[in-house]
Amino acid sequence: MAPASALLLTRLMLQDFRSWPSLTVPFSGRIVLVTGPNGAGKTNLLEAISLLGPGRGLRGARTAELGRQVGGATGGVALPWAAAGRFRDPFGQEFDLGTGTPEDGPPERRILRLDGAPVRAQSLLAERVAAVWLTPQMDRLFQDGAGDRRRFLDRLVWALEPHHAREVAAYDQAMAQRNRLLAQERREGMRADAAWLAGLEDAMARHGAALAAARRGLVARLNALMAEGVTGAFPSARLTLQCPVAAALAEAPALAVEERLRADWAASRGRDAAAGATLIGPHRADLVFTHAPKDLPAALCSTGEQKALLVAVVLAHAGLIAAARGFAPLLLLDEVAAHLDATRREALFAALAELPAQAFLTGTDAGIFAPLRGLAEAFRASPGASPGQLVADMDFVVPDAL
Ligand SMILES: Nc1ncnc2c1ncn2[C@@H]1O[C@H](COP(=O)(O)OP(=O)(O)OP(=O)(O)O)[C@@H](O)[C@H]1O
Ligand SMILES: [Mg+2]
Repeated sequence: MAPASALLLTRLMLQDFRSWPSLTVPFSGRIVLVTGPNGAGKTNLLEAISLLGPGRGLRGARTAELGRQVGGATGGVALPWAAAGRFRDPFGQEFDLGTGTPEDGPPERRILRLDGAPVRAQSLLAERVAAVWLTPQMDRLFQDGAGDRRRFLDRLVWALEPHHAREVAAYDQAMAQRNRLLAQERREGMRADAAWLAGLEDAMARHGAALAAARRGLVARLNALMAEGVTGAFPSARLTLQCPVAAALAEAPALAVEERLRADWAASRGRDAAAGATLIGPHRADLVFTHAPKDLPAALCSTGEQKALLVAVVLAHAGLIAAARGFAPLLLLDEVAAHLDATRREALFAALAELPAQAFLTGTDAGIFAPLRGLAEAFRASPGASPGQLVADMDFVVPDAL
């Protein structure tokens, strides 16, 4: 019996979504496995689920990429596509959420419908559905530049505070305008309009302090949950936000921090013009992951240890969403189990069994999920001769009614 606070996806329908020509599949499990060979469409399936909500999904793809390509890579066309899910909320109420391109509209436009009615504000969706995910692409997080870690953090913040995306966008936009103005001043050897620059710096200071505060707040809450052991047998992670603006917010009221930012930017116009960039500000922040038991930065951890750190953060994040919204988000774990040794895998399965969340797991090898036999509902995806097939894997026993 699933705990009352689980949000459940009970049916998924796809039409010409990436590799899936047409699919209707009911889900009755709280843990759903999708196995199959490379290219079978497993990640595509999770991506479709991730698009049943606010945002651009787990690949961050453009809408026009998502339609099934027919007629070859060159000169081919992407078909209009649709993805729809039926959900059951923690109170047992069902609702339908659909998304896709309009039949006669431009392929880059995506529409969302809640129980058949167009959804105007994506933030309204955040009250009904949420999903968190881990994908193989995220393994690079520890090697890539700070920008990817910042975006990772911003996505975590945004899932809890939908207006965070607007703060980030407004800050970036004001900074881009300031950079352009400074570049023009330098190119043309004339003084830019000081009042205009001050106005942009003021916008940057307000939005920058707000977004740094939101990031700082989330990091503190995640750390608190991980320190409490929410990640079960997983090595817990410790997150450190490296950002002078966030650090200043710990010492001084936000208005004072904004004032200092305005003064710093006003004083550094010449240097920033020469550098062609704004050199200080929350857009330079980094998020450092530490393996708590070893007290080692993630960059020095093994691949499996890094994966476990990400799992810990994602589980803690799911816990935060559950506490804030009253329902746990769907967990979309793409190829997560394959990177973990048997002990950590079992820790993952145990953590998933504990969490009141519906989890979707993929992998090429059904064998590694053996400990979930009897607990999970399993499907096999097949490519090749019969692309877009998803069949129940009868080796796994479907659990009792939810
Ligand atoms: N727009 C599209 N139209 C048609 N096919 C697409 C489109 N986008 C991706 N594909 C194809 O979908 C197939 C399945 O991709 P997917 O990433 O879901 O596979 P997977 O089962 O996750 O494989 P792996 O085990 O390698 O991760 C790929 O062969 C890919 O080329
Ligand atoms: Mg995949």
